[in-house]
Amino acid sequence: MRIDILTIFPEMFDCVFDASIIKRAREKGLVEIYAHNLRDWTTDRHKTTDDAPYGGGGGMVMKPEPIFAAAAEIGGEEDVPVILLTPQGRPFSQQVAEELASHQRLLFICGRYEGVDERVREHLATDEISIGDYVLSGGELAAMVIVDAVVRLLPGALGYERAAAEDSHATGLLEGPHYTRPPAFRGWQVPDVLLSGHHAKVAQWRRRQALKRTLERRPDLLARAPLSAQDRRWLREMGYAGPFAEDEDPE
Ligand code: 6GU
Repeated sequence: MRIDILTIFPEMFDCVFDASIIKRAREKGLVEIYAHNLRDWTTDRHKTTDDAPYGGGGGMVMKPEPIFAAAAEIGGEEDVPVILLTPQGRPFSQQVAEELASHQRLLFICGRYEGVDERVREHLATDEISIGDYVLSGGELAAMVIVDAVVRLLPGALGYERAAAEDSHATGLLEGPHYTRPPAFRGWQVPDVLLSGHHAKVAQWRRRQALKRTLERRPDLLARAPLSAQDRRWLREMGYAGPFAEDEDPE
């Protein structure tokens, strides 16, 4: 995969893309990531990327010309998704991350200030994404969040390949608790079943814990999660009365 990012703050990306999973994925050749400085596509002495809004009012608006010029030079022959990062975009989720991870290339446009000239949205962007209902000073942090969520889905990016499939949200549920050594810490014991070596019982315990945690913290997710008949029995025992998704495994 190749990811290009258009920004006026390319240096913001350096440490995030040079650590941990993303760094390893780049070193393995699974992904190439380039943060481009939009100022490189300006034509005036002052390298201007923003200007006052027509109609007046406060703040500045990002000019269209450098963004279109950069996208024309960087965008490939293929149909590269051009993703505008904006709090007005569709909500980001694990499902959107999976969708983005299926592309060979992605091009992100990081808006700053009060906004981006509307013609970028209308005639260049093919998608608009928001990472949540709060305001960030720019799209850069959102781009980092999305790139991280996408890159860890690329085959080979995680040491432990089953990890991504079992993550919170990948299953539609939150994950249950994790423990490591020591078996007793300050008198707090690791649950016996995890020390039992009984793989089927461990799997059952984990599934029940995931259901319990999701019920306690994010009951809204249960209505959409794919759940087996056994899952639904456990949830009813825990006091959850539904609703359940229609497409659950009938078992
Ligand atoms: Cl993508 N951009 C900005 N500026 N703020 C946000 C956002 C994006 N997503 C949530 N808040």
